[in-house]
Amino acid sequence: MKISSSKIDLSNGWESIADSFIENRNTDIGVSTVEEWSKSFKLDASILDIGCGFGVPHSQLLANTGFKVYGIDASQTLINEFQRRFPQVLAKCETVEESSFFNKKFDGIIAIGLMFILSEQTQLKVLTKVAEALNTNGRFLFTSPYQICEWVDILTGLKSQSLGKAAYVEALSRQGLSLVAEYSDEGENNYFDFIKL
Ligand SMILES: C[S@@+](CC[C@H](N)C(=O)[O-])C[C@H]1O[C@@H](n2cnc3c(N)ncnc32)[C@H](O)[C@@H]1O
Repeated sequence: MKISSSKIDLSNGWESIADSFIENRNTDIGVSTVEEWSKSFKLDASILDIGCGFGVPHSQLLANTGFKVYGIDASQTLINEFQRRFPQVLAKCETVEESSFFNKKFDGIIAIGLMFILSEQTQLKVLTKVAEALNTNGRFLFTSPYQICEWVDILTGLKSQSLGKAAYVEALSRQGLSLVAEYSDEGENNYFDFIKL
């Protein structure tokens, strides 16, 4: 965790690179994967985007489709930009590990580029919170490599870590979720698609 002179960074390095991320994020990668996934929902479905960034492209796609979208991100700069672009969507600056998730349950939850930047302990906590926040038959889509691995994020310079498919399946099966499918997008990002039974 980075400590500046006046405050602690809760965004795992993203607040300090937020302006450059807004300018340079590739807005094509992963869009068709999330779009295909979202076709399993009715149009009145509620979908929570955790680690939503500034909302482009995923919250934007889901809100434009007509879903009731909610966003949470720990970077104030990214949430400010999200709220500027999508004032009709409820978005809050909070960490996923401390958020109350709007005190709601959701039909779908997505975490694109989030899980592996969290510590192992925080990932496991978030998996439990996500499971509790899903309605029955709700789906959880998140990205992380299928193998156990660690690497340095090229944007933040901080450690990323995947717990690996077996650990994600085990942790979520304890919460009543089953793996439905895995996908790979244009950027070779791996997606896990779980359902709450
Ligand atoms: C790789 S970016 C992905 C952003 C967005 N999902 C996208 O696809 O553009 C990771 C995001 O997670 C956010 N983040 C990092 N740690 C977080 C935490 N503990 N709670 C909530 N958001 C967090 C960062 O601020 C950043 O917006």
